[in-house]
Parts: sequence; structure tokens; C-alpha cells
Amino acid sequence: MEAVILAAGLGTRMRSSLAKVLHPVAGRPLIDYSLALCRELGVEQPVVVLNPHQAEVAAHVEGRCEVVWQREQRGTGHALQQVPAERLGGKRVITLYGDMPLISAEWVREVIAAQEGAAAALIAIDHGPPSYGRIIRNADGTLDTIVEAKDLTPDQQSIHETNMGVYCFDGDRLVEALPRLSDDNVAREFYLTEIFRWLRPVRVIKKEAHHGETIGVNTRRELADAERWMQRALQGRLMDAGVTFVAPDTCFVEAGVEIGQDSVIEPFTILRGATSIGAGCRIGPHVDVADSAIGDNCAVQHSWLRGCTVGAGSDCGPFSKLRPGTEVGERVHVGSFAELVRTRVGPESAVPHFAYLGDAVIGARVNIAAGTITANYDGEKKNPTVIEDDVFVGVDTMLRAPVRLGRGSRTGAGSVVTKDVPPGATAVGVPARVIKRSQSEGGSSK
Ligand code: UD1
Ligand code: CA
Repeated sequence: MEAVILAAGLGTRMRSSLAKVLHPVAGRPLIDYSLALCRELGVEQPVVVLNPHQAEVAAHVEGRCEVVWQREQRGTGHALQQVPAERLGGKRVITLYGDMPLISAEWVREVIAAQEGAAAALIAIDHGPPSYGRIIRNADGTLDTIVEAKDLTPDQQSIHETNMGVYCFDGDRLVEALPRLSDDNVAREFYLTEIFRWLRPVRVIKKEAHHGETIGVNTRRELADAERWMQRALQGRLMDAGVTFVAPDTCFVEAGVEIGQDSVIEPFTILRGATSIGAGCRIGPHVDVADSAIGDNCAVQHSWLRGCTVGAGSDCGPFSKLRPGTEVGERVHVGSFAELVRTRVGPESAVPHFAYLGDAVIGARVNIAAGTITANYDGEKKNPTVIEDDVFVGVDTMLRAPVRLGRGSRTGAGSVVTKDVPPGATAVGVPARVIKRSQSEGGSSK
């Protein structure tokens, strides 16, 4: 089995400086769906036809396929003619257009099965988009040819059986027929669809247009349609696994996001990249998460999370900002206008309101009162702040890093801490001075 993905078109109708097949649906470039489909069909290294201006696409697909170049964009048939005959002969050849992200492996398998013993097989859709090629049948119902929308004669206009664009060929027959294509049409292109004129028998599988499977992305409108259907598919799969989406049409989930059972996704929630959410969570409304892992039984609302982890039983928001490298432990509360970056927060600690914590390591059961700031940047480099277990950081404390608050210590309201505070001690003032030492340390109150 061989597979060829045609992706060398100029994508003019997208009106974009980005190659059409790199436009994302559910966060993944279109071409990735075709590659994933080939892999699902057992073709690990399909051929991808690209044009010489698509270096970016070539870099994107590197290692996942073999690239064949189409120097001039003279049509889909001309694109397939660029593939060396040795790659096609003696095999069964699936061809896919690189702009159809919703085709299922199930449908392609049906086409492959139908081609058995025939020269080719394809899928026809009733009432597909009017811009698609039309299926012209002989009086006995067999396929005569496919006519592109631009080339329809007035009496062919009423035909609404369309060509989906998924084909399986007997490779030897394909190699014989490819040189016969002409550019005798309105667009002066070598259409791949003309090949069916030269192949017999061709089996036609009839399908209803459903679940967006037939969408080819030629325009931004079709890109939005594909996204809508992809969201339905991805969210639908998560719903089947026991996740509630309160208002699915307001949410956006990228391919690859995982969510555990009985989690509830509230309206206007965006889940991107390599994100996983545990079971029994309540995420949203208005939450934007990327590349983060949220444990079981967490609640996150009106918040923004990037590249972080949140331990089981914790809650964030409303209005928390968790930046990359943040590791929130279990049963932690991160509240309004708390910004954390490259910071670890131990279990049962709380950062309930206005705070900036950067490059900090915070122990267990620590309370960070409102207005606490780690001054982690000295103008040249980022410095660490360590806050050990059971520390009570008073309101409006500035921690000038590098600095350490020892286990069980406290800071007074408005203090500016420039030196380490020993375990159990209390430091107050600007700059903060230790006014009380821990008994166990043998210190005395002053
Ligand atoms: C094509 C079919 C049409 C079908 C529709 C389904 C042809 C002539 N028409 O039309 O019958 O109903 O798909 O979606 O095949 N490409 C190249 N080189 C080129 C031109 C195109 O590699 O010179 C690639 C494009 O990058 C694209 C694919 O082939 O991924 C299809 O080309 P496109 O122009 O989108 O064809 P449609 O007009 O959609
Ligand atoms: Ca297309």
C-alpha cells in the first residue's frame, strides 16, 4: 500500500502568506491530519507533494514522509505525475488532498476494499459543496467521468452528486493512465479527476455528507467550518468518556487534550496543547490553559495557565495567572491577581490575593498574604526566594531575592526583607529586622 498526499497547490483562495496546509484546525496544521490518517492506514512514510516555495511545510513534515516537488502548479493530476512511477507501480495507491482534515480512516478503508479487483474506487457525496467536481454517470449507472465545477455544461449544472476527493488506485493502471491527462479545460490544468475517463472499472461508494467529513479547506470560511466540526468531534469524544461541556459551542479544545471522568467544563474554556485535566474537576468559566497538567478534583475559574502543573484538590482563580514552570501542590489555593512563574508551592499553602511569586520555592502550609512580591530580578539575573514550611508572610511583604524565610517564621505588614530570616523568627520593618527569635533556636525576644 502506498499513499500520496497532494499539498503543492498555491491555496490562493485562503488569501494568506502561510501555506494552506499549515493553517491549523484544533491547533494542528491541516497536513498533520492527512499524515495521521496515512499512519492509521498503515502507511508510515507517505509521499507528500509540495511546491518549491513551501520550505516551511517541508521542515514541518520532515521525517514523517517523503517529499516530492511539483515545480509548477499545473493541477492535481500534474502533481501526482511528479511521483516516480516506481513508487506507484505494483502497489495499491491511496491519494488524498492535503486540505481535508476530517476524513475518517473508516471511509478510506471502504474505498480500499471497494478497489479490490477494480482499476480504482472513489467516494461520491450527494449534495456536496457546489464548488466540488461532479460525478457523471453512464445510463447503466457506472462512472463516466468527473467534471470540475468550472467546466460544467449548462445541462450538467443540475447534477448534485459530487466527488469527495478520496481515491484508491491499482498502481499499475494508475501509472499507465497518468500520462494521458490533458489540460483541455477552463483552468488549463491537468486535473487528477480526468483520470477516471481512462480507468475501467471504477467503483463508486455513495456517502451522505455528514460530520464535516467531506470538508475541503479552500477558504477561511471552510477553515472555520472544519474547526466547528472538529470541535464537535473532539468534545464529543470527551463527552463519551464522561466529561460535561456546559456550553460546547463556546469552548475550544485542541487535539490531544485529555480530561478525566466527571469533570465539568464551564462556558468559554480554552484547552490547548499537551494539556491534561484530572477527574472531578470544574474548569471555567473563562479559563485558558495550555500545556499544563491539572490533577483530580481541582477548580479553576477565570484564569490563564501556561506550562504548569496543579496538584489534586487545588483551586485557582478567579483571575490567577500561572506562567511556565509553576508547580502548584495539592490542596493549594491560588486566588485573585496572583501571578506565579517558575515557582513551586507546597501542599496546603495559600496565595489568596494579589501577589507576584517568581523563582520561588514555597513549602507546605505557607500563607502568603495580600500584596506579597518576590523581587527576583536584580537587573541582571533572576534570583531565588525560598519560603520554608509553615511560614506566615504578612501583608505587603517585599522579598528581595536571593532570600530565605526559615521554617515557621513570620514577616510583619509592609516589611522589606533583604536578609534571610531564621526559622521561627519574626522580621518587621524596612529593611526588615528580626524582632523575635524562636525559643527552640535559643534566641531571645528584643
Ligand atoms: C478537488 C477536486 C474536486 C473535488 C475536491 C474535493 C481536482 C481537479 N478537483 O478540487 O473534484 O471535488 O477536490 O475537495 O482534483 N494541489 C497540488 N498541485 C496543484 C494543485 C493542487 O498539489 O497543482 C493540491 C492542493 O494543495 C490541495 C489538493 O491538491 O491540497 C486539491 O487541490 P484544490 O485546488 O484544493 O482542489 P479543489 O478545487 O478543491
Ligand atoms: Ca480543495
